[in-house]
Amino acid sequence: MCFIIHVTQDPNPTFFPKNNEAFHGTARRLRVGIVGCRIGHRHALAFARLPALFEVKAVCDIDADRARAVADGLGGVDWMQSYDELLGRGGLDLVSICTPPYLHFKQISQALQAGCHVICEKPLVGSLRELDQLATLGANNHARIVPVFQMRFGGGLQKLKRLVEDGVAGRSYLATIETAWRRTEEYYEVPWRRTWKGSLGGCLLGHAVHAHDMLTYINGPVARVRAIAKTLVNPVETEDCATASLEMSDGSLASLSVTLGSVVELSRLRFCYENLVAESNLAPYDCSSDPWKFVGASAEIEKQIRETLLDWKSGPEGYDAQFLDAYRVIREGEQGVARLSDARASIELASALYHSAQCDETVYLPIRPEHPAYSGFHSAENRVLGGACGTTDGAHGS
Ligand SMILES: NC(=O)c1ccc[n+]([C@@H]2O[C@H](COP(=O)([O-])OP(=O)(O)OC[C@H]3O[C@@H](n4cnc5c(N)ncnc54)[C@H](O)[C@@H]3O)[C@@H](O)[C@H]2O)c1
Repeated sequence: MCFIIHVTQDPNPTFFPKNNEAFHGTARRLRVGIVGCRIGHRHALAFARLPALFEVKAVCDIDADRARAVADGLGGVDWMQSYDELLGRGGLDLVSICTPPYLHFKQISQALQAGCHVICEKPLVGSLRELDQLATLGANNHARIVPVFQMRFGGGLQKLKRLVEDGVAGRSYLATIETAWRRTEEYYEVPWRRTWKGSLGGCLLGHAVHAHDMLTYINGPVARVRAIAKTLVNPVETEDCATASLEMSDGSLASLSVTLGSVVELSRLRFCYENLVAESNLAPYDCSSDPWKFVGASAEIEKQIRETLLDWKSGPEGYDAQFLDAYRVIREGEQGVARLSDARASIELASALYHSAQCDETVYLPIRPEHPAYSGFHSAENRVLGGACGTTDGAHGS
């Protein structure tokens, strides 16, 4: 396998860090190791498009051919098959974790203990308990953990964010969030994808994670959740179809629908506010990008929408934007657009959805440490047999 890297030397400078030394020189460039070379290949390409900020020093995959191919594509960087060896070689500031979900907790822990910052693919980990442990470990080791939510950076979604924050949208009423994708036997030939142990969850955790994250990014925390999840499409352990009703903390509502059995694939985000309706494009894996449709309630609101977006400039999106954001977080101590607290909100929502579906209960957020959902998602059978259901009362926040 071989790939071509398109190096962009001068992307939109407004997206570059304030630190001009970092932009123009290499003094504060982050030295990167990548583990897992499938989606990690796309990470490698994005890092290579940002040569002023990142330098990939080594890549690692238990599959030697895959590691070698990515290393060669980067111009012959080090490659190895052992993660211990990657961390042990030293000279890294940042590890980009692109391995299957069941490895994330251990590999993030190891990287933090080795003094490295971390970018990690979704889903970050399998429970709020693990996430909170990692947050403590990161703080103790002065290392940052940046979760991958690359869809947050899409131009259409960012425009909506501005319209909401500038007060143009008004009160939120209802959001409908649809993830209609298709997964066949071929997709499940990678064994971890069919099991609870390997994937830590099904379509609610692994596939609709971006769409659900975009909902909470725009409309804020979730207050309560009621979900139904089933396995209808493929013979796998985890759910591949789900619906849920949510109440957000601002009192507005949201409906989620997810299937991995849609012959026509699409993702659709529709936000209904007092003053406007916002609709995403339908591209299944790119719905946060333009074009989005914004329709105001009156000519005056239409004018406000135009004026608010008048100076809008499109910039990098996807992994490029995500890694620029990570650079600002790690090197410049900024909060960032995709934060560990966002991964926590995402895992908390997934925990609530699973508990609700498995126990046929409404789950109220925040989920406290004494709530059974705090410790993981589990399979429905384990949950019911383990007595986790029926324990919601008194374990949720006010
Ligand atoms: N953000 C996104 O849009 C997006 C898209 C696809 C996948 N992902 C996530 O990325 C992660 C990886 O997904 P994938 O589809 O590339 O998985 P994959 O199984 O196709 O590839 C994982 C790679 O990691 C390697 N690997 C496995 N164990 C390893 C180990 N112990 N040490 C080193 N390498 C190891 C495998 O050989 C393989 O090359 C998952 O968490 C997935 O959810 C995110």
